[in-house]
Amino acid sequence: MSTDTAVRVPHTRVPTAVLRPARTAARWAVRHGLPAVYLERGARRGDPVGRLLRDRAVRDEPYDLYEEIRARGPVSLGSLGPVTASHAVAADVLRSDRFGVGWDDAGAPRLIRWALRFGDELEAAGVAEPPSMLVVDPPDHTRFRRLVSRAFTPRATAEYAPAVRRTADALLDALELRGGEVDLVETYAAQLPVLVIADLLGVPTGRRADFLRWGAAAAATLDPGLSFRRYVTAERALREMHAFLREHFARLRRDPGEDLVSRLVGLPDDEALTERELHATVMLLLGAGFETTVNLLGNAVVLLDAHRDQWNALIAGPAGWDGAVEEVLRYDSPVQITGRVGKDGATLAGREIQPGTRVTVLLGAANRDPEVFADPARFDITRGNARDHLAFSAGIHYCVGAGLARMEGVIGLRALAERFPALRVSGPPVRRDLQTLRGFEHLPVTLR
Ligand code: HEM
Repeated sequence: MSTDTAVRVPHTRVPTAVLRPARTAARWAVRHGLPAVYLERGARRGDPVGRLLRDRAVRDEPYDLYEEIRARGPVSLGSLGPVTASHAVAADVLRSDRFGVGWDDAGAPRLIRWALRFGDELEAAGVAEPPSMLVVDPPDHTRFRRLVSRAFTPRATAEYAPAVRRTADALLDALELRGGEVDLVETYAAQLPVLVIADLLGVPTGRRADFLRWGAAAAATLDPGLSFRRYVTAERALREMHAFLREHFARLRRDPGEDLVSRLVGLPDDEALTERELHATVMLLLGAGFETTVNLLGNAVVLLDAHRDQWNALIAGPAGWDGAVEEVLRYDSPVQITGRVGKDGATLAGREIQPGTRVTVLLGAANRDPEVFADPARFDITRGNARDHLAFSAGIHYCVGAGLARMEGVIGLRALAERFPALRVSGPPVRRDLQTLRGFEHLPVTLR
C-alpha cells in the first residue's frame, strides 16, 4: 500500500468536482464509517473497547474501564479484536518481530480493497496512512527511520536545549505582561512544542496558528470512527497542510538551510525519498512533534495542581523535574492507544493467533499495571521505576522524539514553575475530544 504510483481511477473523464467528494466518501467509509458501526454495536453490547471509543464520558475518564479490562485477564476480546491492558503483553507485542503495523489488505473483501485504492490520494493522507513510518514495516520503516533519527540523537537534543529554554522564556515574558487568568494550553503548552518543532524542521514559525489547526486535524484522524462531518473538516485541513509542504519543499530545494527538512529534500539520488514519502515523513514529524507534547505539559500542570505538595517540592528542588515528567507520562499518558497486526507465527500471551489479527494495545492501561507499578493509581513524582512506562511505545516504533519530548517537558515545566510558582488551575479544564491522544483543549489558570 505504500506505493508512490498514481491512484487507479477509471479512465472515463470524471470531473474533479465529482471525483473528489466521491474519493472522500470512500476514504471515510473504510477508515471511519465501517469501524464506527462495529464500535457502536460493541458499545451497545457493553464491549469495553466500543465503550472506550464511543462513549465521551468513558473517554474523558478511562481508568475504571481499564481496570475492568485488566480484570478479564492479560488479553480479552473486544469489538475490534483482542485487547490488552497488561504491561508484559503490551511490551511483548510491541517488541516482537512477529507483529507489524502494516495492514495487508489481500484478505479484505473486494469492495474494501477497491475503496482503499480509489480513495488513496496524497493530498488528503493523514499521519497514520502509509508511507508514514508509524504505519509501515521494515524494510521501508528502517529506511525512513534512519533518515530522521540523526536529528534526534541525545547529542542533537542536548544542543537544542538552550533554544528551547529561550523559547519558553519568551512565551513566559508575554504571559507575564498579560497576567491574571489565561488559558495555559492556548498561550503556552501548545505554543512551546509547535515553535520548537517548526524551528527544527525549518518551517516558518509565523505559520504556527495554521500548524496548530492542521495538527489538530491530523490528531483527530488517528481515531477510528470519526463522523463524516469531522472527517471532512479534518481532511480540508490536511489538504492545506500538504499544499503548504509542497511549497515548503520547493523553497528549501532552491534555498536549503541547516534543518532536517532541507537535508531530506536534498538527499542524493540513491537515498532520495519520493514526493509522497517526503510528505508523509515531514507531516508525521510536524504533527507528532507537537500534538503529543502539548498534552504532556497540560496533563502535568493539572496533576501537579491537584498534588500541590509535589509542585512545592519541585520548586524547592528542581532536580526532581526529570522524575516528575516520567510520572506524568506514566500516570496520564499523552498517547493512550496503539495497535499491531500479527504475522505468521505470532503469539499473544502464549497463544498462537491468526495472521492478520489486529491487537489493540492500551498504553495508558499498561502504564497502570500493578504487576509493574506499586499502587499504580497514586501519582508520585519520586516513584523509582516510573521510567518503565510504555508512553513512548517500545520496539522498532519507539518514539523518535522521546528525548526531545522529555527535554521540552522538563524545561517547559521548570521554566513555568520558576516564573509563576503560585500558578493555580482556576476553572474546570476541558479535555480534547480525542481517543488516541489524551490531553486538554483548555486549561484556565491564574498565574499568581
Ligand atoms: C510527550 C510527547 C510524545 C509522546 C507521548 C509520544 C509518543 C509516541 C508513541 C507512543 C509512538 C509510537 C506509537 C506506536 O508504537 O504505534 C511515537 C512514535 C513517533 N513519535 Fe512520538 N511522542 C511524543 C513526542 C514526539 C516528538 C516531540 C516527536 C518529534 C518529532 C515525535 C516523533 C515521533 C515519530 C516520528 C514517531 C514514529 C516512530 C516510528 O514509527 O518508528 N514524538 N511517539
